[in-house]
Amino acid sequence: MKGYNITTLNEFIIRRQAHIPYAKGELSNLLHHIGIAAKVVHKKVNKAGLVDVLGEAGEVNVQGESQQKLDVFADMQFTAALRDSGECCGIASEENQEIITFDDELSLDGNYIVCMDPLDGSSNIDVNVSIGTIFSIYRRISPRGEKAQLIDFLQEGNKQIAAGYIIYGSSTMLVYTTGRGVNGFTLDTGIGEFCLSHVNIKTPEAGKIYSLNEGNYNKFPDGVKKYIKYCQEKDTETNRPYSARYIGSLVADFHRNLLKGGIFIYPETASAPKGKLRLLYECNPMAFIAEQAGGKATNGDVRIMDIKPETLHQRVPLYTGSRKMVENAKKFLKEFGK
Ligand code: AHG
Ligand code: MN
Ligand code: MN
Repeated sequence: MKGYNITTLNEFIIRRQAHIPYAKGELSNLLHHIGIAAKVVHKKVNKAGLVDVLGEAGEVNVQGESQQKLDVFADMQFTAALRDSGECCGIASEENQEIITFDDELSLDGNYIVCMDPLDGSSNIDVNVSIGTIFSIYRRISPRGEKAQLIDFLQEGNKQIAAGYIIYGSSTMLVYTTGRGVNGFTLDTGIGEFCLSHVNIKTPEAGKIYSLNEGNYNKFPDGVKKYIKYCQEKDTETNRPYSARYIGSLVADFHRNLLKGGIFIYPETASAPKGKLRLLYECNPMAFIAEQAGGKATNGDVRIMDIKPETLHQRVPLYTGSRKMVENAKKFLKEFGK
């Protein structure tokens, strides 16, 4: 009988590190701690219907959206794990107005900062629909040994050292990149390990899924309206009409399109001229993963990862997914207007 041949997340991280000369294991340790928090949140998500974690926590987050209890739990859990790692000198979270700096001796010396959306898709929590966590890691700019500063967080996405997401779906998966391809790990709950299940993910050049909140149609720019009509027209050569798929959790919509091929759009609208999604916590990490898988991410004009962030909670329009589809959508924006 053949044994169980698995590669765990930790094994994979350490093996990868061995290929980087002079690597001291700091990033590996940080990723390891993210993996631990992911398992804890997974456990809570799975019990969401049983224990008292559903419903709103009574506070409103900095975006003016009501925070649900699981958001608060995930935020606390990831914050604690990052602090415990000793490699991270500060974090920026979608749930907090300001950056949080870790001021213990070990963390002050940490080389990294992390931006995160601890619970993405929170409106889907209490209806048993997939949700996620998104993270993005940068090397600090401020000197080691000192408190992290805002400039450490306002770096362009092209400076990301690593980025990833966890999807709490029909199974829990962790997908991440350090700039050498994208790999996915599925949580085997029997042994409590993330196991390598999706090696070197490449997204199809073109797919037949388009994902956006079509309820906002009337508020969309003309270029997006025209592109939607294009998606719906029949054309055998380009596999149209495409299928519309929209969950309302970026992580879940992005993950499906990454594997199957497709385009995800959260455009600027008449009421939200910068779109809804956050550059630091949502768009940059997804853009890094999309590009590493051979796809694209743009705000309709420039590459997402080349946008210089001005504020922590900055929002940007997002067009991401299969390369040819994003390029085509961009043509519509150019021709018919943003
Ligand atoms: P969050 O739960 O972190 O606030 O994010 C929700 C986001 C994102 O996950 C999703 O793509 C988008 O909001 C959905 O927005 P609409 O409901 O406007 O379509
Ligand atoms: Mn989100
Ligand atoms: Mn969130």
